Amino acid sequence: MAADKIYPPSPEFVAQAHVSGMDAYQELFEEAKADPEAFWGRMAQERIDWFKPWDKVLDASNAPFYKWFTGAKTNMAYNCIDRHVKTWRKNKAAIIWEGEPGDQQILTYQELSRRVQRFANILLKLGYKTGDRAIIYMPMVPELPIAMLACARLGITHSVVFGGFSSEALKMRIQDLEAGIVITADGGYRRGRTVRLKDAVDEALVDCPSVTNVIVYRRTGEKVEMQAGRDHDWEDLITDMPETCPAVELDAEHPLYVLYTSGTTGKPKGIVHTTGGYQVQLASSMKWVFDLKDEDTYWCAADVGWVTGHSYIVYGPLLAGTTSVMYEGAPDYPEPDRFWRICAKYSVNVFYTSPTAIRAFIKFGEHFPNRHDLSSLRLLGSVGEPINPAAWEWYHKVIGHERCPIVDTWWQTETGSIMISALPGATPLKPGSATFPLPGVLADVVDMDGNSVPKGSEGYLIVRGPWPSMFRTLQGDPDRFVKTYWSQLDGCYFVGDAARRDEDGYIWVLGRVDDVMNVSGHRMSTAELESSLVRHESVAEAAVIGAPDELTGQAVIAFVTLKSTYEPSDELAATLRDWVGHEIGKFARPKQIRFSEGLPKTRSGKIMRRLLREIVTQDKVTGDVTTLEDLSVLNRLSTTSGED
Ligand code: WT7
Repeated sequence: MAADKIYPPSPEFVAQAHVSGMDAYQELFEEAKADPEAFWGRMAQERIDWFKPWDKVLDASNAPFYKWFTGAKTNMAYNCIDRHVKTWRKNKAAIIWEGEPGDQQILTYQELSRRVQRFANILLKLGYKTGDRAIIYMPMVPELPIAMLACARLGITHSVVFGGFSSEALKMRIQDLEAGIVITADGGYRRGRTVRLKDAVDEALVDCPSVTNVIVYRRTGEKVEMQAGRDHDWEDLITDMPETCPAVELDAEHPLYVLYTSGTTGKPKGIVHTTGGYQVQLASSMKWVFDLKDEDTYWCAADVGWVTGHSYIVYGPLLAGTTSVMYEGAPDYPEPDRFWRICAKYSVNVFYTSPTAIRAFIKFGEHFPNRHDLSSLRLLGSVGEPINPAAWEWYHKVIGHERCPIVDTWWQTETGSIMISALPGATPLKPGSATFPLPGVLADVVDMDGNSVPKGSEGYLIVRGPWPSMFRTLQGDPDRFVKTYWSQLDGCYFVGDAARRDEDGYIWVLGRVDDVMNVSGHRMSTAELESSLVRHESVAEAAVIGAPDELTGQAVIAFVTLKSTYEPSDELAATLRDWVGHEIGKFARPKQIRFSEGLPKTRSGKIMRRLLREIVTQDKVTGDVTTLEDLSVLNRLSTTSGED
């Protein structure tokens, strides 16, 4: 990789940046490394308001159940809204929202404040209070962050379920959390059509006795069932609500939200995030990575249903007092220039998206961005998966006009905020590398024994020790928290990604080392997909792998062995894909179903997915097959398939 092209920040960018030059970055990094508690204490004082100061910055007495800012009282909604309303920012746009059909709303910090407080009063009136749990299942409308912030204001732990998840997936989350309320909408818009959400809620609630109230925001106006006594219209409830509702003084360690993500088993993990430390590190990363200035318009084009949206559409930008753009719909509706139209219309300065989106734009063609004036852009970001250098170069040239640095940000649902990224006014960029850890993050690439690998080598990505925005546990499963993440190497967080450290010390994240796939920047579990497939009456056995895909990074390929009474057919393949769509969500449907008479297994019965991967990528098996139980299986792996 000696020929890596390097892009140093321009002198103009460096001159105006919050962190100017590598020396300034090094200085911050060293300060944090030398005394993490003093460093994070300083960040906490500078960036966040507290009702009561902390006794201790870090309590590591019960590691890995670390606690941050113990004894302190604070409130996320207060820090996102109230403290800005007390300043000149009161009439600054907090959220610029555009619906897919083209409708728009601009909410100033004051307006957001009123709406959040009125909605919080509804929750109080219905009897919910600090410590209760709410499920939020909504399209990308302003009422989604409003609902989140109202929960945060009262200390009601929320769990946002991405609108693309099915009723089955929704049900599992409601049950796991024993949520008392579901906040939803009739539906939302996607590619000119409506996605009906309330129907899915109704289906899920058949088995969810904990839920006693459902609030329905009317987005599409389509007719939905309303169960008397349980279901309420958002508009009806809000009419008489007063505009003030004090923010509850919460413990720094009060759980703000639980977000479910796929792991290596069939059951998703509930990632638990708390309040104080999350606020501190999130606000810090906004400043360092996105270099935000008060006059910036910032747009993270993700969905609030994933962690990217929690941290970098809702909480991060509002903590920073930023103007955050939010768009409801598809990037190619009504035409593939929608994103660039939005960038030009609102003069977006900082734009953050995923490599999958960028690759889709490359396919659509340069003429779409070229239709629009993108000169307001000054900084670009990427997140969710490794960005291939070709996509990086295109993003840099066609969108950034070779003027905008690109921050390739590595992090996870578990980490809460960005962990490895360039600082745009400091780090010389290498396309495809997330570059260096942020101040306060002791990321490393190590071998199996935990020794740092030499420059030029690959290994496991880890983080040495705790960080403030880290998840605190897995909902209802602290043992799994310890076992999955903190048991591989003493005192270290095991990320689950492979990485390379190059000759210059740059970190290149290579992808997962476990049975987790990354499809379009979304985490997908082989086990979860497999257990969904075997629940179908026709399936005897299934093995799922992620195959390289030009557009989505990885694509789901399922090998399926049918019960003897079933015959492979294109129809059955389509049925199985739809089945997974119904069980998890449309976005999880396998790209390909391959029927096979048997699956390659070790003598102990473990499916050898590595061999399946070789069959898909190279059409043959080249690796070691000595542990294979029945060699003839390989020859019998048929390629009968139906493809999307
Ligand atoms: C996994 C986390 C963080 C929000 C979106 C995904 C992969 C994420 C990068 C990047 C290479 C990346 C990793 C990670 N990943 N960002 N910049 N370069 N890989 O959140 O669903 O929790 O997935 O996404 O494999 O472990 P997530």
